[in-house]
Amino acid sequence: MQKSQIFFATQTGNSQEVAEKLQEELEASGIEVGCVDMFDSDPDNISELSHLYYVVSTWGEGEPPDDSVGYFEKLKEYPDGHYAGKKFAICGLGDSGYDIFNGFGKDLESELVRLGGVGIVDRVDCDIDFEELSDPWIAKIVEHEKALQAEA
Ligand SMILES: Cc1cc2nc3c(=O)[nH]c(=O)nc-3n(C[C@H](O)[C@H](O)[C@H](O)COP(=O)(O)O)c2cc1C
Repeated sequence: MQKSQIFFATQTGNSQEVAEKLQEELEASGIEVGCVDMFDSDPDNISELSHLYYVVSTWGEGEPPDDSVGYFEKLKEYPDGHYAGKKFAICGLGDSGYDIFNGFGKDLESELVRLGGVGIVDRVDCDIDFEELSDPWIAKIVEHEKALQAEA
């Protein structure tokens, strides 16, 4: 069975905005997908999920938002292959004025690949005007989800 979930990691709300927009656009196509803050989620609880969509910002010097550090630390402790076969997509939000542009989005992708996840669309690294890349990313995910529904 195909089941998807959206996760966001945010400090000031931009990633949550993008994540909720994705959720709304899926709903507008009749597709119900959960949307949760990494802070409120446990990376253990993915056994029922086939598709994981992440919208994450970067803070500090290329780090996750404060509230999401615990989630990411736990993910990094899993053995290789722990997420084998899980499909994922990442929309990173950052600011190219910082040395480590979108560091968390990139680090999260590396971890998910190490864990055996399979990217379904290319990661996007959004700059300050994040909608320029997040809107097309959302459209791709919606198309992907529609295709999954059509297969079911
Ligand atoms: C103090 C501070 C540190 C930041 N550090 C980084 C960084 O290292 N790399 C990056 O790409 N963006 C960095 N950013 C930019 C944020 O990631 C960007 O504003 C993003 O849109 C915030 O999304 P959020 O509201 O979901 O947290 C930083 C912003 C601030 C204010």
